[in-house]
Amino acid sequence: MSGSVNSASAPPGLALPEWARVAETRRGHILRVTSLLAEWADAMRIAEAEADAWRDAGLWHDALKDAPDDELRALVGDAPYEPAMLHGPAAAAFLERRGERRHDVLDAIRYHTVGCTTWARTGRALYMADFLDPGRKFSRADRAFLARLVPQDFDGVFRQVVRKRIEWTVREGHSLFPETVELWNAVR
Ligand SMILES: [Fe+2]
Repeated sequence: MSGSVNSASAPPGLALPEWARVAETRRGHILRVTSLLAEWADAMRIAEAEADAWRDAGLWHDALKDAPDDELRALVGDAPYEPAMLHGPAAAAFLERRGERRHDVLDAIRYHTVGCTTWARTGRALYMADFLDPGRKFSRADRAFLARLVPQDFDGVFRQVVRKRIEWTVREGHSLFPETVELWNAVR
């Protein structure tokens, strides 16, 4: 896949992969999510391998978000994903083909739109960072508060984020995916 990204404004050490297909506005989101994950990893003093997994999950989760639907469908085969959640499974499939074997990274990316009850910490961290991106315009103070709390109360904030994402989905009149409902039932 050809890249459409320049990395001129990326924080040091953070760069989108060469296979990314993202619009300019998406780049900022991806880099903010990845920076948030790096802050938490640092504050929580997690092992280097897990911190690397969090960083890669952040950098890669939306990397195919702006690729055409037919390319995404070609990556996932005939799995019946709705368009809005297609980019996660497609990126995971793409990474697997390139030899990525870390299940925590692949599952974090594959399910980041809908949630997953069997996630390792990598998936839960990405799900929180994706929602708590300081660049999102709604509930800024609430979300900033939750983002600061993650290192002390990882599981508590995760539960709050699952709840808030569901509340937002219902308020906006969007469909709830079965995976998301299952996740809420597992953490509530
Ligand atoms: Fe995202």
